[in-house]
Amino acid sequence: MRTVPCEGIGPVSALGFGCASLGSRVSPKRGRVAIERALRAGVTWFDVAPSYGDGKAEEILGAALRGVDVAIATKVGLVAPPAHPLKRAVAAIARPLIAAIPALRPLAKRLRPAAAERLPLDAETIRVSVFRSLERLGVDSVAMLALHDPSLEDIANEDVARAVADIRDQGLAARTAIAGAAEICTAAAAQGFPFDIAQVANSPFDRGLRAAAAAAPFTITHSVFGVTGALSKLREMMKNDAAFHTAIAALGYEDPAALLMAYAFAANPNGVVIASGYAAGHLAANAALASRPPDPGLVAAVDRLVAASGASGGQGG
Ligand SMILES: NC(=O)c1ccc[n+]([C@@H]2O[C@H](COP(=O)([O-])OP(=O)(O)OC[C@H]3O[C@@H](n4cnc5c(N)ncnc54)[C@H](OP(=O)(O)O)[C@@H]3O)[C@@H](O)[C@H]2O)c1
Repeated sequence: MRTVPCEGIGPVSALGFGCASLGSRVSPKRGRVAIERALRAGVTWFDVAPSYGDGKAEEILGAALRGVDVAIATKVGLVAPPAHPLKRAVAAIARPLIAAIPALRPLAKRLRPAAAERLPLDAETIRVSVFRSLERLGVDSVAMLALHDPSLEDIANEDVARAVADIRDQGLAARTAIAGAAEICTAAAAQGFPFDIAQVANSPFDRGLRAAAAAAPFTITHSVFGVTGALSKLREMMKNDAAFHTAIAALGYEDPAALLMAYAFAANPNGVVIASGYAAGHLAANAALASRPPDPGLVAAVDRLVAASGASGGQGG
């Protein structure tokens, strides 16, 4: 696995493991197996948050990583909404059935809990959230603490800035970050907000990375396949546009998922790319690409093809 130097933390794996589904879509048992697989593949960066896995991800991750020396990144700002215990129990029973029987997939949406709830950020909320995260993870400190999708008001709030700086100064987190929109990272840098890392979405259809990279010395990207629908969008384009398909294949990537992952590493060659990887095949494919040097011409070539097809999105690079 290729590693990248992250100041204040050390060398970390170029591929990070995303824990948003740990404890929700993915059962604790399956999650643990996947985490062990990721460790064997050389992954040393694990991304989690209090809201992930319906609020259960930090605890599951902490148990799986007990005694293992890796970088854990967590966040503050969003929490899982309380779910009715009956709905949780039904969801836990139904999930494996839904995964096995495609016809049941429409049910998954109805069983999904409501979106994460935003915490009003102030010094006390941040401190309490960090201590609860450390407790659930079973560690004294984390590699990175990020504000989770903060607003412009949050990053302009001096109380919030001081609390974040205190977390770093007290050694509770080696590095602090903004995990949110690129515009927020840019505004935070302009205001001198105390953060070292910008964590943003990045794909050929979601390109705020260039702005984020100008805002912080280290960048982490996510949403390679999911959330903004990059994989389904690219698959559609390759299916419906023969010329686009031929041009993409000529770059050396027949598999749209492999192209997106290679694009992500090429766009962020000195940072971490986080991906979900609970399926063994997904993790193996992503880890294999993380072991190769990033492809320097790929971003410009793909951006050109996507722009020519009319499907370009977001800010350049
Ligand atoms: N604000 C933030 O900081 C923020 C926002 C969004 C996400 N994140 C982080 O990023 C992580 C990843 O989330 P994401 O939204 O970016 O998801 P993603 O990595 O794009 O994954 C989405 C889906 O793609 C699948 N997948 C993974 N590798 C694949 C491959 N090689 N081929 C085909 N499908 C593949 C995954 O399946 P399996 O998992 O079943 O293998 C998953 O169902 C989250 O867990 C979270 O840690 C952070």
